[in-house]
Order: sequence, then structure tokens, then C-alpha cells
Amino acid sequence: MTYEIALIPGDGIGPEVVDRSLPVVEAAADAHGVSLETTRYDWGSDRYLAEGAMMPDDGLDRLRGYDAIFLGAVGHPEVPDHVTLRGLRLEITKGFKQHVCKRPSYLFEGVTGPLRDYGAGEIDFVVYRQNTEGEYADIGGREYRGHDNEVAFQGAMFTREGTETIVRAAFEAASEREGKLTNVTKSNAQAYGMVFWDDVLREIAGEYPDVEVERLLVDAASMDFVRRPDEFDVLVASNLFGDILTDLGAGISGSMGLAPSSNIDPTQTHPSMFEPVHGSAFDITGEGVANPIGTVLSWELLWAHLGEDALARELRAAVRAQLADPDAPRTPDIGGESGSEAVANDLRTRLG
Ligand code: NAI
Ligand code: MG
Repeated sequence: MTYEIALIPGDGIGPEVVDRSLPVVEAAADAHGVSLETTRYDWGSDRYLAEGAMMPDDGLDRLRGYDAIFLGAVGHPEVPDHVTLRGLRLEITKGFKQHVCKRPSYLFEGVTGPLRDYGAGEIDFVVYRQNTEGEYADIGGREYRGHDNEVAFQGAMFTREGTETIVRAAFEAASEREGKLTNVTKSNAQAYGMVFWDDVLREIAGEYPDVEVERLLVDAASMDFVRRPDEFDVLVASNLFGDILTDLGAGISGSMGLAPSSNIDPTQTHPSMFEPVHGSAFDITGEGVANPIGTVLSWELLWAHLGEDALARELRAAVRAQLADPDAPRTPDIGGESGSEAVANDLRTRLG
């Protein structure tokens, strides 16, 4: 089987983690008889600074025919964050109806998380984040700029399609995992969008009688991520809440550098996009110490999505073995002194 993948390494450590992960992924694919054809797009902040746009006008059309898209990260110290995010990542997630952002958190053996009471495998949950609308809808405006009556308005949008899609994906995942779904909203304070969300969830829950539903307000959920993370299995949340909770999920599982993410169109009409959770990390760009594991685990999600389960498992097994080995190289974010390249080279030796 041959897969065509569009690579958008992007900014900062994006190209570093993409380039370090590729030889590992290619070697694993080779061993499984999977052929991987990548096309690289130099879209991102350098393009914006030179040409005024993060990607070309026909960017989505160029990506449409691929089996999947792999993104590094975007974000540049000289470009406002809302420009980098909206000009590329959100264009793609919204344009390709990637309503579902699936982000697993797992505490691997050999990784010391900040919570002292939890060991390997005891943190193991997946957040399903609505990925195309909610609080990140492009709705709002500013008036009376610079005057003392200045006003900014920021809307949020919850559609039936967007909400049903994420909720259904989360129920499907819960029924395949432990049969437990935690719905995270803030319906006490946000009585329109979030109450609509709860209504949709209640309707769909009827189709999944075997899934137990727990409801949490997002503030309480944040506390419980720290207090009882072992009790979570699948969580579903809006765009903003899911964004925040998954950084917390990365934190309690040891490092932002270990966290994978996927942006999925469940109808498979458009290609889905895979990327590490982290951003461009200016603070470590160019130092060669970015952890490539979150990126390798994002490739795991990509292969699982494309149905190459054995290949996906192989990448995960290599990561698991490396992290569990106290003598293996590791990057500084998880307590080591090695660089990205040493970690990637070591991962290759653990394949097969
Ligand atoms: P960040 O995720 O880039 O970095 C947060 C912290 O985690 C930093 O201390 C960084 O050094 C560390 N870190 C991140 N990835 C790491 C890795 N692979 N290995 C080791 N340490 C790692 O978030 P930050 O600093 O808030 O944002 C930097 C830029 O990235 C901003 O422009 C922001 O808008 C953008 N961003 C882009 C995202 C994307 O492309 N999907 C997601 C998050 C932020
Ligand atoms: Mg985030």
C-alpha cells in the first residue's frame, strides 16, 4: 500500500521534530511493507513575512488529494499568534471539516510525572475536543479603538453538525474503551451554547446505552485532572476547554514534548491532519533538544487512522521500550541530557 502524505513542518521546532521523526517512521513503514510518499510544503511564518500569507490561496486544493496531512507547529516571535494560527492550522481544520480533535494522555513507564501518586499506565485517557467552532469561531469585532469607550466582542458558535460529530466520536471511542464518557462544559455560566451541547449529548447518549456518562464543569474537571486523573477514560469538550485540558493532560503525563494530536474528518471526505500538541517553542528552537516523541506518537495516530494498525503499534512499542529503558537517551524536558537526534536514532534501533 502506498500513502501520500503532505508535510507542513511549519515554524520553530516544527521542522526539527518532523525531520527527526521521519527516518523512524520511514524505517517502520518499510518493515511493514508500507510505502510512504511525502511532499513538503514550506508554509508558515517565513512565508507570511516574505509574501503576506501563511499559505497560498489555493492551499486547501493542493492538500485535498492526500491520504493525510502532517503538521509540525506554527508560531513566530515576529508574527501575532492569531495570524499564524488562523492563517494555516484553522484554515485546514475548518476547511476540511476536521471537527474531531483526538488527544490521548498516557503516563509511560520510565517517565516521572508531577503527580506523585500515579505510576505507569495509571494516567490513560483521551480527550475529544471540538475542533472547528465553539469559542474559536471567527465571530466578533472591535469598536471605538483607542477611545475610552473601546469595546471588543467575541462570540462563540455551536452548530448541530459540529457538536453532534464530536459527541458521537467520543461515544464511539468510549464504547470501544472502558465505556465511560466525561462531558466537560460550563453550562451553569454559558446558558446557550453549552446547554445546547448538553442537549445534543443527551440525545446521542440514547444510542449508547452501555456508555456511562459523567458531567463535569470545566473548573471542577481541571481540579480532577490533578486530583483523580486515573478515573478518566474518554472526555469530550468544546474547542477552548479541550485545548486547555489537553495541555494539562500533557503536563500530568510528563511533558508537552510527549503529547500527540489528530484532527479528524470522520466522514473521510477530506484528509485528516496529525501533529504534536506543542507549538513552535521559540525558547528551545535551534538547540536540537526538542523531544520528537510527541511527533512519533502523532504518526502512530496517523497510521491507526489509515488502518495500518500493525505499523501504528510498532511505533508505540518503540517509544514505550525507549522510555522504559533507564539507559536510553532522553531529552531535557523529561530529565535527560540528550538531543532530538540521539533519541530518534535510538528509536530506530528499537523497531521490529
Ligand atoms: P509551546 O508548546 O511551543 O511551548 C510550551 C513549553 O513546552 C515551552 O517551554 C517549550 O520549550 C516546551 N516544549 C514544547 N514542545 C516541546 C518539545 N517537543 N520538547 C521539549 N519541550 C517542548 O507553547 P508556547 O510557548 O505557548 O507557544 C509558542 C508558539 O507556538 C506561539 O506562537 C503559539 O501560538 C504557538 N503554538 C502553536 C501550536 C500549533 O502549531 N498547533 C500549538 C500551541 C502553540
Ligand atoms: Mg493548545
